Amino acid sequence: MPLDSGHEATELDEKTMEKRKEKFKGLNYLMVKLSPGGWVMPKNYLKFANKIYNFEMRNTDVFVLTFPKCGTTWSQEIIWTMRNNPNLDHPWASKPPLARSPFIEHDMFMRIPESGSPSDPVYDMFLEMCPGKNPDEGVNIQLAGAIPDPRTIKSHLPFSLLPSSLLDTTKVVYVARNPKDVIVSYHHFYKILETDFVGTLEDFLDYFVNDDLVYCPYWLHLKEAWERRHHPNMHIIFFEDVKENVMDELKKLNSFLGTNLTEEQLKGIADYTSFEKMKKRGDTPSGKKDSDKAEISEDQKRRQEYVKKEGGFYRKGVVGDWKNKLTPEMSAKVDRWVRDHLSDLDVSFRYGIGH
Ligand code: A3P
Repeated sequence: MPLDSGHEATELDEKTMEKRKEKFKGLNYLMVKLSPGGWVMPKNYLKFANKIYNFEMRNTDVFVLTFPKCGTTWSQEIIWTMRNNPNLDHPWASKPPLARSPFIEHDMFMRIPESGSPSDPVYDMFLEMCPGKNPDEGVNIQLAGAIPDPRTIKSHLPFSLLPSSLLDTTKVVYVARNPKDVIVSYHHFYKILETDFVGTLEDFLDYFVNDDLVYCPYWLHLKEAWERRHHPNMHIIFFEDVKENVMDELKKLNSFLGTNLTEEQLKGIADYTSFEKMKKRGDTPSGKKDSDKAEISEDQKRRQEYVKKEGGFYRKGVVGDWKNKLTPEMSAKVDRWVRDHLSDLDVSFRYGIGH
């Protein structure tokens, strides 16, 4: 039966799943592909797909849409702060980003905390904002429905899986980033998560260019957004531009969002949302803590060692770190893939100095 978005889901076959398990050693989601588009999703997405597609939007909403690792959390924090906390004194500001700016499809990944498990601020916020509601119906999506205006909502879903009247009802900020830095950052993310990717960076890059990771295809994700770039409710920003001149980008956002903030307020927000300050405020966007049990598994130990060496969620926050990670062959493979899939768009990626 098709989803309300018109997509049909097909489960990945057993052989493909077995092959994945060699590289994704930890949590292995059952995966589906959606057609049209070939979108890769955990099977649990199907439980929430129609709820998301029919989500009741308000015309005061701002959706922050991105492919993973394009600077979602950074943009979300900028936008939430501009709209809710321009003087940096909002009582919710100390809550982690995903507790006040919900991640609408996150229920497809989330396990509801058992009693006695470490604190989960998003779940705590759900309990506070949605008394009596059943968490099995979606912690994040119900939280998104319950938080007061003005809401800033995060999603990594492509336009075709989101409410069809999204752009006519709400404002959308789409954040893009060059695919080489995205690959390096996404690989890192998969290694620090319970998915526990144990293959090489080259293996990971192959999954990426073969459109085989959650939320892929990257190129179609970008294409669907780029086609809508002239809509008055659409504003596209690039990670590289924010990194190069944050005040210019904040001024453009100030006018798009209609926030009317002063130069002083914008300067304060630029500083408050800098990489260093955000990293200092919390380890992850959800604020969820790792188990503090004395006994941890060998896999957890290995992941912790990796984080010590390579960093956590706030890894580097720069443009061009791919040059330290991708071999010339890997870089050339991405160039060919960009030529094959994105050459008909007039997007010019900025890969950092010396590209
Ligand atoms: P790196 O892994 O390259 O460091 P997302 O929020 O979409 O998951 O993106 C995460 C990426 O954004 C990571 O990139 C992270 O370090 C970077 N990031 C997060 N906050 C940032 C900030 N305030 N300034 C610059 N980069 C930031």
